[in-house]
Amino acid sequence: MVRAPVPAALLAGASAVLLLLCSFQVAFSLSIGVNYGALADNLPPPAQVAAFLKENTFIDRVKLFDANPVFIRAFAGTGVSMVVTVANGDIPGLAKLPAARDWIAAHIAPFYPATNISLLAVGNEVLATSDKNLIAHLLPAMRSLTAALAQAGMGKIRVTTPHSLGILAASEPPSTGRFRRGYDRAILAPMLQFHRQTKTPFMVNPYPYFGYTGRTLNYAIFKPNGGVFDSATGINYTNMFVAQMDAVYSGMKRLGYGDVEIAVGETGWPSVGDADQPAVSVENAASYNGNLIREVNSGRGTPLMPGRRFETYIFSLFNENQKPGPTAERNFGLFRADLTPVYDVGLTRTRAAAVAGGRRWCLPSGGASEAALQANIDYVCSSGVDCRSIQQGGACFLPNTLRSHAAFAMNAYYQSAGRHDFNCDFGKTGVVTLSDPSYGSCKYPA
Ligand SMILES: *[C@@H]1O[C@H](CO)[C@@H](O)[C@H](O)[C@H]1NC(C)=O
Ligand SMILES: *[C@@H]1O[C@H](CO)[C@@H](O)[C@H](O)[C@H]1NC(C)=O
Repeated sequence: MVRAPVPAALLAGASAVLLLLCSFQVAFSLSIGVNYGALADNLPPPAQVAAFLKENTFIDRVKLFDANPVFIRAFAGTGVSMVVTVANGDIPGLAKLPAARDWIAAHIAPFYPATNISLLAVGNEVLATSDKNLIAHLLPAMRSLTAALAQAGMGKIRVTTPHSLGILAASEPPSTGRFRRGYDRAILAPMLQFHRQTKTPFMVNPYPYFGYTGRTLNYAIFKPNGGVFDSATGINYTNMFVAQMDAVYSGMKRLGYGDVEIAVGETGWPSVGDADQPAVSVENAASYNGNLIREVNSGRGTPLMPGRRFETYIFSLFNENQKPGPTAERNFGLFRADLTPVYDVGLTRTRAAAVAGGRRWCLPSGGASEAALQANIDYVCSSGVDCRSIQQGGACFLPNTLRSHAAFAMNAYYQSAGRHDFNCDFGKTGVVTLSDPSYGSCKYPA
């Protein structure tokens, strides 16, 4: 299909609307997952990490690389959803239902639903191991674990397995995407059939970091670039992440499974590398991860999958100082071990809210009329709220203006009535604020 040309003016208008929508999304419904790996000797205890994620960040899901009970239990009651992973070596044994039942009883049942376990990942990049025994038992293990979860009344937990993009034999341009021969019909088609039947996601780990060349760096990190044109579809791809997702989609569609949901198990960019890796920097990591978060929260999907959403887990939550390999491997983290962000990608909740410690005040809105301000004062001060501070001689009498007195009265009412947003409505003449309006000796309660 060739896309019809769109007038430039219309495009400009559309992208302005898109931008507005994006910033709205970022402010109000940001949702992102992280891989919580812990190959380190300096990380805070899991319970502290769980509290930090819940209270100080927009991260609402974590993915573990194992089924460590200490980590699973740490997230109980936080609402943060969790992916628990079965070790590759356990896969052959779990192909039989009784063993799968035992595994679920030991590793999931004690913690669920207190910990919001949403997905069970069966192994990690199993096809990339080329281990015939593991690969042969992967789908049977996924099936028996699904059955065991259902039998234990935990059928809401969905079963998947993450794949590296090594499953693709071709990926560029995206419309040519196809799975490796030998894996496509024998292994991936029945697995996609399983995902369709159980309404579970096909999970992939796209890493533009492992695919860029000097020429395609900007394309890989969402910076302005000349794009990659797919002449078969007429689509001009301007970032490699979206192109990789469409390559996966093309491979699935070729086998007849274009409808199956896709999730992103891992993706990321390191912030520190070795001397021969000039593309590894704090700036490039912030560009990749910041734009990735915006991309997957935008709701626009990809050219081949318009409007589809991909549950996404960034690699990684922490820099992990005991990971082997090149320097970059130890520097994929969004956060340092002391919980400070390595760079700002908008995942930490606003400083204002943190400084105010969640305290809020109610003030008149800018457009409130004098009549409304007077009515609010009359209403509050006749309802039993203490208004002596704004009477002559009171700490908040000066400045002697209707607006200043109304502000004090409306806030006093809001605080005493229980600090619900509707306690600050006042016929749409009140607004809740995070900054303390107290001045001099005039203290506004909070
Ligand atoms: C559990 O996580 C899911 C997202 O996977 C979310 O929709 C749901 O609200 C969470 N449940 C609780 C109790 O927080
Ligand atoms: C693709 O988009 C980029 C960035 O907007 C632009 O520079 C390039 O000319 C486009 N290429 C084609 C073939 O349309």
